[in-house]
Amino acid sequence: MNIKLNRLRLAGLLAGAGLLAVAHPSFTADTNAPVAAPPPGTGTTKPPMPAPLTGAELYSMHCNRCHAERYPTERTAAQWKTIMLHMQVRANIPGTQARLILKYLQENSGR
Ligand code: HEC
Repeated sequence: MNIKLNRLRLAGLLAGAGLLAVAHPSFTADTNAPVAAPPPGTGTTKPPMPAPLTGAELYSMHCNRCHAERYPTERTAAQWKTIMLHMQVRANIPGTQARLILKYLQENSGR
């Protein structure tokens, strides 16, 4: 009699647990839920790197912030070298960019 009761109880517990498993959301992972498709163009492929800026572009970006742009022909290549040493510090331009700007100015300088 006692054993029978325990069995019934056990069965009831198991059934209850089963119901819980069905009803509780954490037990029922909905594998059929629609997966949001990524917007077009945002796959795993990275966007192409932008082309590096040219000396002329860097010049027009940096060198008219404080004063009007000078024409490269206004100075000789040697003068531009000295001016760029000065203006690189003033404008706080990284060395790689300053070299590109100097190259542009010297190639188009008044010699
Ligand atoms: C942060 C402000 C600032 C930026 C940015 C700047 N300059 Fe200047 N520049 C000055 C000032 C101020 C002077 C005048 C006083 C001096 O020489 O320090 C000057 C003067 C000059 C002169 C005249 C120098 C002379 O001896 O006659 C030239 C040429 C020049 N800058 C070129 C440039 C170039 C090229 C760039 C870009 C790389 C540049 N500047 C960026 C502030 C700036």
